[in-house]
Amino acid sequence: MKMFHMFVLFCLCWWRLIGVFGESVSVMKSDSVTLHTDVTKIREDDDILWKFGAETSQIAEISKAARIFTTYDGPDGRFRDRLKLDNQTGSLTIMNITTQHAGEYEVQRSGVKWSSKIFSVSVYTRLPVPDITMNCSSSSSSSSSSSSQQNCSLLCSVVNVGHVTLSWYKGNSLLSSISVSDLSISLSLPLEVEYQDKNSYSCVLNNPIRNQTTHLNITQHCQSCKDPPVSVSLILIYAAAAAGCVLIVVSVVTCCICKKFRKKVQTPEEDGADSALCKPKTQKKKSKTDAVYENVPKKR
Ligand SMILES: *[C@@H]1O[C@H](CO)[C@@H](O)[C@H](O)[C@H]1NC(C)=O
Ligand SMILES: *[C@@H]1O[C@H](CO)[C@@H](O)[C@H](O)[C@H]1NC(C)=O
Ligand SMILES: *[C@@H]1O[C@H](CO)[C@@H](O)[C@H](O)[C@H]1NC(C)=O
Ligand SMILES: *[C@@H]1O[C@H](CO)[C@@H](O)[C@H](O)[C@H]1NC(C)=O
Ligand SMILES: *[C@@H]1O[C@H](CO)[C@@H](O)[C@H](O)[C@H]1NC(C)=O
Ligand SMILES: *[C@@H]1O[C@H](CO)[C@@H](O)[C@H](O)[C@H]1NC(C)=O
Repeated sequence: MKMFHMFVLFCLCWWRLIGVFGESVSVMKSDSVTLHTDVTKIREDDDILWKFGAETSQIAEISKAARIFTTYDGPDGRFRDRLKLDNQTGSLTIMNITTQHAGEYEVQRSGVKWSSKIFSVSVYTRLPVPDITMNCSSSSSSSSSSSSQQNCSLLCSVVNVGHVTLSWYKGNSLLSSISVSDLSISLSLPLEVEYQDKNSYSCVLNNPIRNQTTHLNITQHCQSCKDPPVSVSLILIYAAAAAGCVLIVVSVVTCCICKKFRKKVQTPEEDGADSALCKPKTQKKKSKTDAVYENVPKKR
C-alpha cells in the first residue's frame, strides 16, 4: 500500500515536472491564441482530448471513430463561445482571452500511440504609458542645493502593473531597471540628468510581449517643482508648533482661571486633587458648594 502511494506520488511529481517543461505561451488580454498539436492531419483512429487547469477539466474532444468533434464550456462556463478546434490538426484556439484562461492546458492524443503535450499560458493585461515627473523630494530639486542649477531629478512611474519591467534607457543602452512579479502594484524608477544633457532618454515599461515608452523631454519634464515639499513641510511644522504653543497657553490660562475661580468655592483638600481638571463633570464628589458652582455659568 505504502509502495503504491509512493508510486502515485512519483508519477504526480513527474507529471508536474513535465508541466514545468511544457511550452510557454504568452498572450495579451483579449487577443486570440492557438495551441498547436504536433499532428499535421488527424488519423481515423486518433482520439484527441484537451484539458484545462489543475482539475483537468475537459474542454475539447475529437474522436474520428466515434464522430465526436466538440468543445465544452468548462465547469464554470468560462470557455463558452471562446474555443475553436481545427478539424485537420486538432489544434485549439482560445479567442478573446482573459486572465481567467491563464494556466495549464494539456492535449492528450491516443490511438496507435499515446502522447501528451502541456502548454503553460500566461495572459498579460494592457500596459499603461509610463509617467515621467520630477522627484520634488530629491535634494537636487531644492533650490538651496548647489547641484540644483545643473541637475534634474526625475521619476518614471506606473501604477497597477504586474509581471513587468520598468527601465531607463540612454539612447539604446540600459541605465537601470526594476522588475515585479506581483500583480497590481505601483513602481517608480529614479533618474538624474543634467539640464544641458543632449542625449535622448526614455523610460520603457515592458512585459514579455509588449512595451510602452515615454521619451524624456528635459524642457518639458524638468520644470521646477512648484511647491517644494521641503518648504511645505517646514511651514507645516512651524504651523503645528505655533498651534501647539497657543493650545498650551490657552489651557494654562484656562486652568489658572478655573483654579482661581474654584478656590473660592472649594475646600483646600479637594482643590489639590482636581486643580488640573477644569471640567466640572470630572468632579465625582459633589458637595453642596460644587453644585452651586456648577449652576453659576448656566444662570448667566
Ligand atoms: C473542416 O472544417 C471546414 C470548415 O471549418 C470544412 O469546410 C471542412 O469540410 C472540414 N473538414 C473535415 C474533414 O471535416
Ligand atoms: C471579450 O470578452 C469580454 C468579457 O470577458 C467581453 O466583454 C467582450 O465583449 C468580448 N469581446 C469580444 C470581441 O468578443
Ligand atoms: C526622491 O529623491 C529622494 C532623494 O534623492 C529619494 O530619497 C527618494 O527615494 C526619491 N523618491 C522616489 C520615489 O524614488
Ligand atoms: C548630476 O547628474 C550626473 C548624472 O547625470 C551625475 O554624474 C552628477 O554627479 C550629478 N551632480 C550632482 C552634483 O549631483
Ligand atoms: C518595444 O517594442 C518594439 C516593437 O513593438 C521593439 O521594436 C522595441 O525594440 C521594444 N523596445 C524595448 C526597449 O524593448
Ligand atoms: C519638449 O517640450 C517642449 C515644451 O513642452 C516643446 O516645445 C518641444 O517641442 C518638446 N521637444 C520634443 C523633442 O518633443
